[in-house]
Amino acid sequence: MALRHVRTMGDEILYKKCKTVNLMTPRTLQLIEDMFETMYENCGVGLAAPQVGILKQIVVIDVDDGNQYLLINPEIIEEEGSQTGHEGCLSVPGKSGIVTRPQRVKVKALDENLEEFILEGEGMLARAICHECDHLKGELYVSHVEGELMDVEDLEEEGDEE
Ligand code: NI
Repeated sequence: MALRHVRTMGDEILYKKCKTVNLMTPRTLQLIEDMFETMYENCGVGLAAPQVGILKQIVVIDVDDGNQYLLINPEIIEEEGSQTGHEGCLSVPGKSGIVTRPQRVKVKALDENLEEFILEGEGMLARAICHECDHLKGELYVSHVEGELMDVEDLEEEGDEE
């Protein structure tokens, strides 16, 4: 396992579309392991491959619900309701913004054996799924922020952070 360097806003790789994964290789399995390690090291709840410089449709998520989610070639097939709240990103360090996302989503994806499964997420998990799937399309959450992007430090001073 190895930590990977997290690319930050302005790095052109974050704005490119990712390619689908059609073959699982030792190299890709290593990437997945490294992505989990890099996410945990940086206290993130999700990480997409382009954030570590790889243009593949791979996402890892852990919203502290007791599960580690790996989504390969994810496709959101249903959305329901809406939620408005703070969002952040390891590629936009120290910042937070208000984003409206669906309250529930259903996503179709492949696992590490490239077998298809459906995952339903609500609340924080739904938000993370949407955020990470956006990364695979070359989109950062900052393009969806309502109002201004805020400094996390300022939010903590206001006692506004959960
Ligand atoms: Ni992100």
